[in-house]
Amino acid sequence: MALDALFEPFALKSLRTSNRIAMASMARWATPGGDPAPLADFYRRRVEGGASLILTEGANPARDAAGNDPCSLKLHGRTLESWPGVIEAVHEAGGAIVPQIWHCGATAKPGQPWTPPTPFESPSGRQAPGMERGVVMDTAAIEATIAAFAGAAATAKALGFDGVEVHAGHGYLLDQFMWSATNSRTDHWGGPTLADRSRFPLAVVRAVRAAVGPDFAILLRISQWKSADPSARLVETPQALEAWLDPFIDAGIDIVSVSQLRWDAAEFEGSPMGLAGWTRTLLGVPVVLAGGVGMSGDFIQTFMGQSGAPQSVEPVAARLAAGEFDLIAVGRGMLADPDWGRRVRYGLPLSACSPARLTAGLTPSDQERPA
Ligand SMILES: Cc1cc2nc3c(=O)[nH]c(=O)nc-3n(C[C@H](O)[C@H](O)[C@H](O)COP(=O)(O)O)c2cc1C
Repeated sequence: MALDALFEPFALKSLRTSNRIAMASMARWATPGGDPAPLADFYRRRVEGGASLILTEGANPARDAAGNDPCSLKLHGRTLESWPGVIEAVHEAGGAIVPQIWHCGATAKPGQPWTPPTPFESPSGRQAPGMERGVVMDTAAIEATIAAFAGAAATAKALGFDGVEVHAGHGYLLDQFMWSATNSRTDHWGGPTLADRSRFPLAVVRAVRAAVGPDFAILLRISQWKSADPSARLVETPQALEAWLDPFIDAGIDIVSVSQLRWDAAEFEGSPMGLAGWTRTLLGVPVVLAGGVGMSGDFIQTFMGQSGAPQSVEPVAARLAAGEFDLIAVGRGMLADPDWGRRVRYGLPLSACSPARLTAGLTPSDQERPA
């Protein structure tokens, strides 16, 4: 039974989960001032519903330009008073919780006129070709941002989180450094090769590792695609993938959290494996896979108005059972139904995910509103 593989425990360093089902990081835009308090019940409910790991929505380190919405979650300052209640809610329900540390770089929220207290900041003042925004980071800003990531990670450990995830995908700050289209710097933080452009994210990871010590689990979220260009790619071959990620493992990454738009999309010619499977095979580290698990289409299509229809979880469970990846992260499925994991466990039907679900609020009545 392939599904049984989803219900095996997982353990690595500080991170222990009772099954292989995670809730994917998902901004809810429902935490005014970045205070996480309203998330406690929302996350607890997903754990009661069968998720054993909550990957929080992106939370900003202490950098004024890190968020792109007045509700962007924060992992510093006064919000630290509310985080213990969120962690406790998840732990009490038997789950693990890992905050995702996220800096938006030059990526404003679509349709959102709000700007952060200081200008958007990024390697070259650009979200994508033709999308100039904010300021180019100088050396002081780069060093302060590295320190802010490290500070957030140290805070995560001190608060009692089970690990920490560094967001280096989706075209946000760390990815903007790595993508040639958004990094045209000629100093230490840029250059013609991906290895050159990876220096900033690598410095972040090294600082995070130094801040949390050797035994605290660090995840790195990566993607090829960018929010401004879903077809963008950083690497075209397995060899390039290995060369890109190997230094991150050396720098202290324990688990790679791979974001594909579709989990079942082959990444390179000659194999059905996606980016997650290739990463696990080439790097030999545990991998979390997200992207259309148990749901048709991809989340960008759902944001554009197309509902996702439930799909069988058997194929993805079979690939997990075969060792292609270690955990699955479910986004839309768990917005559509907090009991997603339990439904899979007991063979009950899964729910469709309408576009309205992506922006619904956090209260049970918001969740139950007809989609
Ligand atoms: C409403 C919404 C908000 C999201 N916010 C984040 C985020 O804060 N950080 C992140 O890494 N990914 C974010 N994502 C991407 C998800 O983590 C996940 O990779 C994506 O939804 C694909 O999984 P799915 O097809 O199961 O929904 C978001 C997705 C959605 C739908």
